[in-house]
Amino acid sequence: MIFRNDDYPGFLQVIALDDCDSTNNYLKENYKQLEERLPVLVTALQQTKGRGRRDRSWESKKNMGLYSSFGFHLETAGKLNLLPIIAGISVIETLQEMVRSLRGTAPPPGTLPGFGLKWPNDILYDKRKISGVLIENTIFKEKVYCITGIGINLDHEEGDFPGSLEDTATSLHLITGKTIAIEKVNKVLAHIFFSNLEMLISKQEEEIIKKANRYSSFLEGERISFHRDDKIMTGIFRGIHHDGGIILENESDSIQIYYTGEPITNL
Ligand code: BTN
Repeated sequence: MIFRNDDYPGFLQVIALDDCDSTNNYLKENYKQLEERLPVLVTALQQTKGRGRRDRSWESKKNMGLYSSFGFHLETAGKLNLLPIIAGISVIETLQEMVRSLRGTAPPPGTLPGFGLKWPNDILYDKRKISGVLIENTIFKEKVYCITGIGINLDHEEGDFPGSLEDTATSLHLITGKTIAIEKVNKVLAHIFFSNLEMLISKQEEEIIKKANRYSSFLEGERISFHRDDKIMTGIFRGIHHDGGIILENESDSIQIYYTGEPITNL
């Protein structure tokens, strides 16, 4: 895939900020002004109150990472449970593309860099988290305002992560030894995200789930845990169900499918 350097998808409005509290907040607070201009991408070089899931904060130091949120309308709420997966696979495909472009050549077949999806939308490399997604939707009468916030660790070096993340986080720089222009990552991500979203809109859910299962196959047969409300669910990962839920085998060998949950970064 090749993108011209100046190229964002033509239908997308791009708002590039030096800083803001959180790109998700920006989209929420400015809905009235942006409503007629959607889809919109808001990106910032730094966030002063970057937010993660489960009320955590998201480290957002200047020029260290990509901090971006897509705001768009979806006509129906029925497809919302696949949005986290769409965002997750889009980040993986973007990172694969970036690694290819940094290395200058395509790796031999079967040796694509090992980015993986931990259901529903944590992106890992070698069991360390490189990206997270925070989705916040508001449902109106006949359509949904979707905010998909994406954070990707790009330029962190050893010691740049706070103590609590030292052993569980990684960055594109740590993986490749190189620095990449954040704008380039944003452009590729925008193309890939909207093309995956189009698959959802045109009812190609099966294709999306196939990709999600491919990217999470490294977990097949592994014991995993995730938060579900106040509980921690544990079981053997048996893939992603055709409607987007996680398939978990429990102690008594019975299969359960869960539709909501938050990944725990330590496997
Ligand atoms: C997580 O894994 O907990 C989700 C992290 C999401 C971070 C991104 S950065 C851009 C957008 N703005 C935010 O405040 N959060 C998301």
